[in-house]
Amino acid sequence: MQTPMIDYLHQLVESVGEDGGEVASYIPELAQADPDRLAIAIATLDGEVYVAGNADDEFTIQSISKPFTYALAIADRGLESVLEHIDVEPSGDAFNEISLDPETGRPLNPMINAGAIASHALVKGDGAEGRTERILDLYSRLAGRELSIAEDVFESELSSADRNMALAYMLRTVGTLEGEPADVVRGYTRQCSASVTVRDLARMASVLAAGGRTPQGDQVLDPAVNRQVLSVMATCGMYDSAGDWLTSVGIPAKSGVAGGLMGVLPGQVGLAAFSPRLDPHGNSTRGVRLFERMNRDMGLHLMNATESGRSVWRRTVREGVPTHEIVGDLQLIESERVVRGFAEEPVGESPVIIDLDRVHTANDIARRVVLEGIRRLHVDGHDVRLVDPSGVLGTAETGSGELVRGEQARGGYVPTSFPDVASAIAG
Ligand code: DON
Repeated sequence: MQTPMIDYLHQLVESVGEDGGEVASYIPELAQADPDRLAIAIATLDGEVYVAGNADDEFTIQSISKPFTYALAIADRGLESVLEHIDVEPSGDAFNEISLDPETGRPLNPMINAGAIASHALVKGDGAEGRTERILDLYSRLAGRELSIAEDVFESELSSADRNMALAYMLRTVGTLEGEPADVVRGYTRQCSASVTVRDLARMASVLAAGGRTPQGDQVLDPAVNRQVLSVMATCGMYDSAGDWLTSVGIPAKSGVAGGLMGVLPGQVGLAAFSPRLDPHGNSTRGVRLFERMNRDMGLHLMNATESGRSVWRRTVREGVPTHEIVGDLQLIESERVVRGFAEEPVGESPVIIDLDRVHTANDIARRVVLEGIRRLHVDGHDVRLVDPSGVLGTAETGSGELVRGEQARGGYVPTSFPDVASAIAG
């Protein structure tokens, strides 16, 4: 059987309809690009990538580079320092608007050019080449292959980069720009000229969707940095159509003037489209239409939240031993359901098995809530037998009941661990 996802994507590409808009012409090399190309890709968090259309055609990443460089600037300098240079407010302006906060002198956000140029300058590295090398290395780790710069597009854009140069000089006059404006614009233009396919962009988006982790388990971005980047993409990624986009498609996204469009559904998938003609906001016309269609067909919208707590826990009795079976990824509300289940266990000295074999991840709060539940089962007299082969509860030390305080619990009760339920039953 062929998975229906592939047929769906082909159908999307075939039915997207007539194109409208114009290719970006302010970068001479982009004006030469074949405007009829069209591609789409969806990447799951465990590494499957489905594609249709001209999926192996390369194009320059352009502004889709901005969220990733912003992430590297935060990793290098810390969030506080980056926020001192660049705000996080939607501007409602076009991507290349010469706009700074009148009071602070900061660019309004890192998705418009002013903020993106300031982000680029905050990345550590020796000059334009040093910064770009580190930036390209990050993009390559996210894409899962070595990316390179499209030198022709780079030269072409640099020869007509007067507006970005003006922005960089203006940033320097208000004290926001670190470094030499011409060198920073050179580096920023190189970052925009990284060459990608929709496959690459979908895979990069899937890493953002997975909290900064690649399908191979490489934690490329710190989860807190990843969250900052997605928040800014959600509010500012689509420039002066950001509000329209968030209400109609409903996912963090970023567009580029070469026609790329990348979207992230946190915890679910990374998506990408490519079609070079642009709408008046500088977003790919058919790309936007494809995302609107996908939202209608697949219910992508962030605000369509599911009730994930309901199916996470059940109690069975295995050979006379009460067994709490827990499945899925645990966050606050899932862990609340789990400990509500523990609380139904009658007080007594019987063994109780906690089976976490089918739990993939538990965030910090979930881990602490479940450990506190285990401690309370123990206080009620139970011999708690833990099956946690992936170690999602860490050391499984429960602490002393200092509930939900912050750090990993230390000391307290440590339940006996077993590799599987059969050996836990045998005790
Ligand atoms: O700074 C520029 O003008 C380009 N290199 C990137 C702009 C861009 O992609 C805007 N997005 N739609």
